[in-house]
Amino acid sequence: MLYLPELQHNSIGMIRHILLLFIVAPACTALSARGAPHAIILTAARTTEKHPLGGTHPITIWCAPDNPQVTISKATLTRQKDKKEFKMTVVGTKKNATYEIEKPTTHDAGEYLCALDTPYGKLDAKIPIYVRPLALSDNEHFTPIGDNEFILEGDRKSTSIGGDVNLTCPITGHPVPSIKWTKDSKPLELSNNVMLDGTTIRIKVSNESQAGLYSCEAVNEYSVGGKTSRLQLVVNKRVEIKSQMAWILPLAIIIIMFVLLILIIIACEARNRKKPDPK
Ligand SMILES: *[C@@H]1O[C@H](CO)[C@@H](O)[C@H](O)[C@H]1NC(C)=O
Ligand SMILES: *[C@@H]1O[C@H](CO)[C@@H](O)[C@H](O)[C@H]1NC(C)=O
Ligand SMILES: *[C@@H]1O[C@H](CO)[C@@H](O)[C@H](O)[C@H]1NC(C)=O
Repeated sequence: MLYLPELQHNSIGMIRHILLLFIVAPACTALSARGAPHAIILTAARTTEKHPLGGTHPITIWCAPDNPQVTISKATLTRQKDKKEFKMTVVGTKKNATYEIEKPTTHDAGEYLCALDTPYGKLDAKIPIYVRPLALSDNEHFTPIGDNEFILEGDRKSTSIGGDVNLTCPITGHPVPSIKWTKDSKPLELSNNVMLDGTTIRIKVSNESQAGLYSCEAVNEYSVGGKTSRLQLVVNKRVEIKSQMAWILPLAIIIIMFVLLILIIIACEARNRKKPDPK
């Protein structure tokens, strides 16, 4: 009886130790930060390195410690592709940090790293800014087909039998889009004369059946706000094969017109001669 209070005190202490070990310790070692992915909203899909296409909505990147007890003393955001740093604003009783991109462009897409200085050390979180597949029109001209800004037609390629054609698919996006080529709406058949080099097709034109509509279909997929989107862009390229007899038709027209002209002149001359001389 005399030792009971002592025993009770000990068991409470033990329970406290167990609680510390099993609840607090793992929580401490797992201290981390989190943020949310964002996407740039676009109404078109043609962009250039020099003049990146602008999005329709501002983006507010945020980042917060997972544990709501942890306060932030300083927060920075680093764009991974060029290591450019942005200073974040600490808001919400120092529990949240934000950075607003008022006018995002396709250039802002990519991975970001948010780093929070806290009394428990540096916590960081990876935050992506997604963008749908885009056609890079720095070196090529693309025209939307009809009203659809996401189905584009590139310049026509014209060659003759024996020539060669390279079809490129200059696509960007985050995540990097996967690319698939089709010909006349069927999967592209590769051969010694039709080769795939990365995303470029190299065609050695040996046969007129190689003319047609080649399409590059680019797709990427991402989840923002619990909603998964699958975005597609189609770039069409038409290959024409100049017939080796192509010069025949214009030549024939010129000869026919020349013959007609001579016939008309002869007919007129004949009629003039037949007319009796007026007296
Ligand atoms: C941080 O702030 C942003 C922007 O106000 C908000 O959308 C986000 O939910 C906040 N995060 C937390 C964990 O409070
Ligand atoms: C296509 O690419 C190959 C390999 O780079 C090159 O040798 C060839 O000249 C290119 N053809 C055309 C028509 O640009
Ligand atoms: C062109 O290719 C098609 C299919 O590969 C073949 O059926 C056809 O005979 C070829 N034409 C010529 C002129 O070689």
